[in-house]
Amino acid sequence: MSVNAVIPRLAELANIGRHEGGIDRGLATPQEHAARERFAAWGREAGYTITQDIVGNLFARRAGTRAGALPILVGSHLDTVPTGGAYDGAYGVVGAICSLEFFDERNTQTTHPVEAVAWAGEEGSRFPLGCLGSSVFSGITNAQTALVLTDMDGTSLHAALASTHAGLLNGVPMRESLKPSAYLELHVEQGPVLERECIPLGVVTAIAGQCRYRITVEGESGHAGTVPMDLRSDALCAGADLVLTVESAARTIGNVVATIGRMTVEPGATNVIPLRATFSLDVRSPEASRIRAVDASLRDGAVRMQCDRGVRVDIEQLEARAFAPMDARMRQAVHRAIASLNMQAIDLPSGAGHDAMCLSQIAPAAMIFVPSIGGRSHVGDERTAEADLRRGVEALAAAIVEVDRMLESN
Ligand code: GLV
Ligand code: MN
Ligand code: MN
Repeated sequence: MSVNAVIPRLAELANIGRHEGGIDRGLATPQEHAARERFAAWGREAGYTITQDIVGNLFARRAGTRAGALPILVGSHLDTVPTGGAYDGAYGVVGAICSLEFFDERNTQTTHPVEAVAWAGEEGSRFPLGCLGSSVFSGITNAQTALVLTDMDGTSLHAALASTHAGLLNGVPMRESLKPSAYLELHVEQGPVLERECIPLGVVTAIAGQCRYRITVEGESGHAGTVPMDLRSDALCAGADLVLTVESAARTIGNVVATIGRMTVEPGATNVIPLRATFSLDVRSPEASRIRAVDASLRDGAVRMQCDRGVRVDIEQLEARAFAPMDARMRQAVHRAIASLNMQAIDLPSGAGHDAMCLSQIAPAAMIFVPSIGGRSHVGDERTAEADLRRGVEALAAAIVEVDRMLESN
């Protein structure tokens, strides 16, 4: 049964890239490629039309009944953060394809074609752009700009996608560019609200805005034993000072979160004063003014580091995504679908980013959440109860039908 298939399929994907701490499936790695292969195989077996695009977005299309009707897109992503979990992204992709099969089983026809989508590189963990595939698809990022992005080893996305075991899928044709008529995404909540409220489903009201940065601090290297403390320009100490400046700013400003999740120190030896410290910064809030306030503190802090510690600080903003409200009529349609199944749902905002942020720029978009146990995600042991996973797929399938109807009544 298609709804039950969500469990073994997620387990199958979870084995691709799994290691002791979690799952590693960065975009255009052999592991992520293998996950895309599985998705394409499920789609082919069900008789759907499989296509891809030049950045690796992958589509499985079930035909609609009206010629020329624009597709309803339903999807999420197959890449993970390093040591990520089994459900973030994968659930929405597997849920989408299971919904299409559910329609086959019940002989449900939709007027619009429905495409299950695996968006390329939502996490931005390997190449420095979150929502990479959906951003290109939505025309926010130029494909060429995305293809020249490089990972930490200097490999470009273009080169990674050209490789046989990690790149685009063999023999899968390119998708002709068809604007979607609507977008739906099923996802684990990744926070504690649904569990706390004992409600099995959430309808997302809006997704927080976010900015991502790369910050490079350059000081002066030297011998760890000979240079007195007051004559040093230690890049790591200045970087650490800046990190705490940002943390304190975010705490003071409120309703904003700031995370420094990655830092590298060069040359990286115990007995060498750090020459360079490079770190990431991720800032999110539903209010753009609060993100701007953290940005201002960061820049003030950088000037202070230059004066007080004699280092140079370079701040690159890599990504800025605006607060993204979900479409009111789509949300109502999702609520109607959930009510028709006698299931309960509440409205809630998303602090996590999603491909729906980008799709909402070109089509009416909505998202459905299911509870995350302990509110935990972006960790190897993230979990959602099996009954909740199945329920989410049923809700998604009903929502697709309801959205199809809503679009027809326009
Ligand atoms: C994606 O999971 C994000 O919110 O960064
Ligand atoms: Mn996700
Ligand atoms: Mn994620």
